[in-house]
Amino acid sequence: MAERKPEQRMTYGGYLRLEELLELQDGPEGYGPAPCNDEQHFIITHQAFELWFKMILRELKESHAILNSDHVEEKSLPKLVHHLERVTEIFRLLSNQWKVMETLAPQDFLSFRDKLGTSSGFESWQMRELEVLMGLENEQRMGGMDPLMHMRKLADEGKVSPKVLADFEATSNAPSLNDALNAWLARTPINGSLPESPGDEAITAAFVEGHLEVMKHHGEEVIAHIVSIGHGEEAQVRPRIEAAAIQAASFLKPEGTVSRSRAGLLFIESYPELPLLSWPRRLIDAFVGLEQSMLLFRSAHARMVERMIGRRMGTGGSSGVDYLDATTKYRVFVDLWAVRTMLVKRDALTDVTSPEYYGFATDE
Ligand code: HEM
Repeated sequence: MAERKPEQRMTYGGYLRLEELLELQDGPEGYGPAPCNDEQHFIITHQAFELWFKMILRELKESHAILNSDHVEEKSLPKLVHHLERVTEIFRLLSNQWKVMETLAPQDFLSFRDKLGTSSGFESWQMRELEVLMGLENEQRMGGMDPLMHMRKLADEGKVSPKVLADFEATSNAPSLNDALNAWLARTPINGSLPESPGDEAITAAFVEGHLEVMKHHGEEVIAHIVSIGHGEEAQVRPRIEAAAIQAASFLKPEGTVSRSRAGLLFIESYPELPLLSWPRRLIDAFVGLEQSMLLFRSAHARMVERMIGRRMGTGGSSGVDYLDATTKYRVFVDLWAVRTMLVKRDALTDVTSPEYYGFATDE
């Protein structure tokens, strides 16, 4: 390597732009006295979260670039899983990070809380962008909140830059990760048949009907067992078991027609032994793990807030803890969660019709 002059030598501080970074913890300029120790802790904790949000967004955008395509190569699945697993770990870390926030005593928080005015984590656009990128719909949000409208208002008021708004708009206008995932699931080979294969509709429908039949049969066994051991009356148990079967049918055949993405998902989850489907199953698992870690993060935030401000209103004007608890009911990857309810033990399922297609060596 060529010799560098001393002034060209890379340093730790230079590489990380540390001086710039460490100048940003004193609160907004021209806005009252310099922050006390507790307030600086409050600022640093928030900034640390936002830095991690930045990384999460990057990982999710990389994942999106791979998955949002008409053809996702098998060999890119490990990379995709890797991105998602990193996000899961970051959310796990962030769930614990609330503990540091909790070292702020409620009284000490109140001493500077008024300075915050109406500012609130509500306005964390990185958090909103990652929710939108994942696929959280406005109708699923509490009060049908519209984050894009809120961002436009902030941009109009000069509170966020045109670049931040443009990035947000771009994410909002693209298919979400959940959309891309469902499109990919819809291309799952089911009993060796692809969407473009001749007779695919009939093959897929036969797989779905077969599964519903197995569920029904298994349900009858469960009813007989519960009644035989005196654990319940048939009149009480039967409606519950039958309701589950009806729910499964309407999930797999919304409006009477088979949903190919849901059928694909059910197929992947039903046959874990098929080598070709092992990475797809890991991918599904990675999405579930990610959402689970995000929910635990939301829940840990709500518990920290309850400890800090009790049941009072948030600075952003929400009901506070009740609002935060309601967000723990959000589910983005709805189908991935729902399919779990209708899985049947492997022994009860019929074997796949073309095991060799899935790289499974047969005895013949
Ligand atoms: C003393 C510490 C904190 C308290 C008392 C607190 C309280 C609250 C409350 C009450 C809300 C609901 C919205 C509102 O009405 O304001 C909220 C939302 C939020 N907070 Fe915090 N928070 C604290 C620290 C943090 C930290 C360190 C972060 C890290 C970025 C954060 C991120 C968020 C986010 C992203 C939301 C929006 C949640 C959603 O709408 O799904 N909060 N917070």
